[in-house]
Amino acid sequence: MIALANKRALVTGATGGLGKAIAAGLAAAGARVALGYNRAGAEAEALAATLPGNGHLPLCAPVTDSAALSEAAGRIMAEFGGLDILVNCAGITRFCPHGDLEALDDAIINDILAVNVRGVIACTRAMRPMLDATGRGVIVNISSIAARTAMGSNIAYCASKAAVDNLTMSLARALAPKIRVLSVAPGLVDTEFVKALSQDWRDEQAARTPLGDLARPEHVADAVVAAAGLLTYSTGTVIAVDGGRPLG
Ligand SMILES: NC(=O)c1ccc[n+]([C@@H]2O[C@H](COP(=O)([O-])OP(=O)(O)OC[C@H]3O[C@@H](n4cnc5c(N)ncnc54)[C@H](OP(=O)(O)O)[C@@H]3O)[C@@H](O)[C@H]2O)c1
Repeated sequence: MIALANKRALVTGATGGLGKAIAAGLAAAGARVALGYNRAGAEAEALAATLPGNGHLPLCAPVTDSAALSEAAGRIMAEFGGLDILVNCAGITRFCPHGDLEALDDAIINDILAVNVRGVIACTRAMRPMLDATGRGVIVNISSIAARTAMGSNIAYCASKAAVDNLTMSLARALAPKIRVLSVAPGLVDTEFVKALSQDWRDEQAARTPLGDLARPEHVADAVVAAAGLLTYSTGTVIAVDGGRPLG
């Protein structure tokens, strides 16, 4: 059991399919968790009440709004007295065939890059003073297998996740030794969204995966908890949680 007692964490996109599981994993390990939301305030309130432990904090943290992120940092300081763990999980995408460049219009590209890439930098910038102050802060960026395989919902999304892995390296160098920075890169995860896709397609994806199944949100949460609490000599690298899918 990895112990995160007395640790204070912020998960952005905490009400999403993966964010919920990550927040639950951190809380189960003993952390107090700030549940960052964009629009889903009511879901964040409800989630806070169901997590193990006490003192979890629903928190407005829209990652494309730097002023709001500064306010969120102030709220964490006031409520938690500091921050040990930042999980940059907020992310968006839209399905668009890779060859259909007309369908991938500038607005979609801008939105994806603003949330998935600029959001990681902006949230890191806002939370850095608190993470620095602990002397052993951790940032976990939720990347994707798409960063490595260039297969995913659309080409801008794949590029955004490659950028996240690159940010993990440069931030790890720039913020060391006080803050470690790691990417956790899931393959296809069996969230509600994926469960709604055709069973034949999901079976095919599982069959192409050496470990024979899709990831569950808990697999990703376990990797985040390990990155935060166990891998204390690791920084600037990518932890794949993909069942070996790129080998299949
Ligand atoms: N699911 C997968 O198979 C999979 C695989 C690899 C990587 N990932 C990555 O894992 C992360 C989470 O994915 P998911 O499946 O949990 O997605 P999801 O269920 O669609 O949830 C997305 C989350 O991002 C938040 N968000 C969107 N725009 C935001 C903004 N501007 N500011 C702050 N938060 C914002 C949403 O908050 P609101 O609802 O409040 O707007 C929501 O909580 C993403 O980075 C995704 O790329 C997912």
